[in-house]
Amino acid sequence: MTKVIQIEDDFSVLDEAAKSLSQGGLVAFPTETVYGLGANALDPEAVANIFVAKGRPQDNPLIVHISDQSMLSQVVSHVPPAAEKLMEAFWPGPLTIILEKSETIPVSVTAGLSTVGVRMPSHPVALALIEKSGVPVAAPSANLSGSPSTTRASHVIHDLTGRVDYIIDGGACEVGLESTVLDMTGKIPQILRPGGVSLEALQAVLGQVMYEPALKDSREVPKSPGMKYRHYAPRGELYLVEKKHEDKLRQMLSDYRAQGKKTGVLCCGAKQYEADVLLNCGKTAKAYANALFDALRHMDDMGAEVIFAELPCDEGGIVPALMNRMLKASGGYVLAEDVTIKVERL
Ligand code: TXA
Ligand code: MG
Repeated sequence: MTKVIQIEDDFSVLDEAAKSLSQGGLVAFPTETVYGLGANALDPEAVANIFVAKGRPQDNPLIVHISDQSMLSQVVSHVPPAAEKLMEAFWPGPLTIILEKSETIPVSVTAGLSTVGVRMPSHPVALALIEKSGVPVAAPSANLSGSPSTTRASHVIHDLTGRVDYIIDGGACEVGLESTVLDMTGKIPQILRPGGVSLEALQAVLGQVMYEPALKDSREVPKSPGMKYRHYAPRGELYLVEKKHEDKLRQMLSDYRAQGKKTGVLCCGAKQYEADVLLNCGKTAKAYANALFDALRHMDDMGAEVIFAELPCDEGGIVPALMNRMLKASGGYVLAEDVTIKVERL
């Protein structure tokens, strides 16, 4: 049985969920990035249940969430000075820092790695829940594996009802994309996943920071074929469209509709297209990032079979994270001159 808890001004409604969390239960909760599916990070059985509830591959490590830096000693073996600087600058907030793990963290959390990702979220409900539970909380995004992440409680209710003990409804998430994952265990700090804290912001604090080489520049239209797997994917086919290919998009929409396919378009700002489902995801990349997962889920609800998503036009900030999620969700299909090219990256 899954119990949904509505948040009120008084956070005492969190008490029973926090107790369940500390005793091995699964609790989905809001963070400023996306909803998380939490379990006691010190309890290997509870952690194993996360993988079952999500249908998540065992080899994908979980992020451990804390509400206070005093919890760090339970999670990591030590905190290097550069990581301390990061915590001061970006915590609480959308930055996950990879450090050497402590002995108390079970290997099921880290998928056998000697390192662990740790983050202090800024959402007041997340902080209160972790604090009340008294334990560090392992939490992946609260979606079924492969589906778009959840940014509204309704998404979590859709994916995880009957699979978890509690779902805490704290409204819509502020950022809408997951945290930046930064590996601090090598010589040069490397971004493994772009997210809510930008490369430029990290460089301002640390000096040298780079994207992990495999991520590459997410703005360049890639050329190599082949793509490993889809992630964040809607059920329909998803194609990304650069602004200069608007005409091509109109043509393809008309072709697909003539074939009787249900079509959808995600637009940057208000646009007119002849599509069955037309969603305005906002003019800025920030608004688009906030709307993306909700929009992809809406396309599923509406039964869209072929979906086109305009790419954001701005630069920097959240754009690399947004591009990363869009490329993964589409399996790397980007609409170019006369062909649809499939790309290998991100
Ligand atoms: O914003 C977020 O980070 C959300 C909220 C709930 O905090 N969580 C989230 O978790 O996105 P998840 O499990 O969906 O993604 C975690 C990412 C994965 O790509 C995983 O491979 C990576 O972090 N990760 C976790 N621990 C790692 C480690 N020790 N080394 C390398 N990558 C790690
Ligand atoms: Mg995820």
